[in-house]
Amino acid sequence: MVDNIKWHSGEINKAAREELLGQKGLVLWFTGLSGSGKSTIAVEVEKELFKRGKVSYRLDGDNLRFGLNKDLGFTAQDREENIRRIGEVAALFADAGLITLASFISPYRAGREAARQAIGSENFKEIYVKADVETCAERDPKGLYAKAKKGEIENFTGISAPYEEPENPELILDTQRLNLEESVELVLKLILK
Ligand SMILES: Nc1ncnc2c1ncn2[C@@H]1O[C@H](COP(=O)(O)OP(=O)(O)O)[C@@H](O)[C@H]1O
Ligand SMILES: [Mg+2]
Repeated sequence: MVDNIKWHSGEINKAAREELLGQKGLVLWFTGLSGSGKSTIAVEVEKELFKRGKVSYRLDGDNLRFGLNKDLGFTAQDREENIRRIGEVAALFADAGLITLASFISPYRAGREAARQAIGSENFKEIYVKADVETCAERDPKGLYAKAKKGEIENFTGISAPYEEPENPELILDTQRLNLEESVELVLKLILK
């Protein structure tokens, strides 16, 4: 903890911003294996919210690694720090009143739980984007499973690193059974009720 710092409050709070925007600031936290469909679903949800006049913002694993988290790799320790920073950023976005769409493998329960704490459980919806590793490897949208199986990628979730399934997610999207439109519909139903 750094000394000599003190929180400086403003006079406009989350509730006031929410009233201005006509929406609740929250975080939809999409978790699941690489290739399960997190980013694809988040992109469609963003479009549907936009059409309905709702302001959202996507935070996506790879994208943040180009900038904010470019110093981090994929060891358990770096993944923990990656998720910690994202949790803090997502908390700021939600506080700004935005519907924040966070898509990260986030393989560890503890990391997701820490994000929930940073954001506040009432503003946090954990969405498990579910597909088994065989299906994800077959889709292989980024060619990563092929590389991981050849041993070219260390600590690859599902192959050489663990994925801890959510125990009590707010929503499960089984993308082996639901098509994209059906998943998007369920997400909208979760937040626009
Ligand atoms: N029902 C489905 N829902 C979402 N994506 C699907 C579905 N069926 C096939 N896909 C495909 O699976 C891939 C998922 O990739 P992506 O969204 O990048 O995954 P992630 O962000 O979870 O790593 C895409 O190529 C997408 O077109
Ligand atoms: Mg993705």
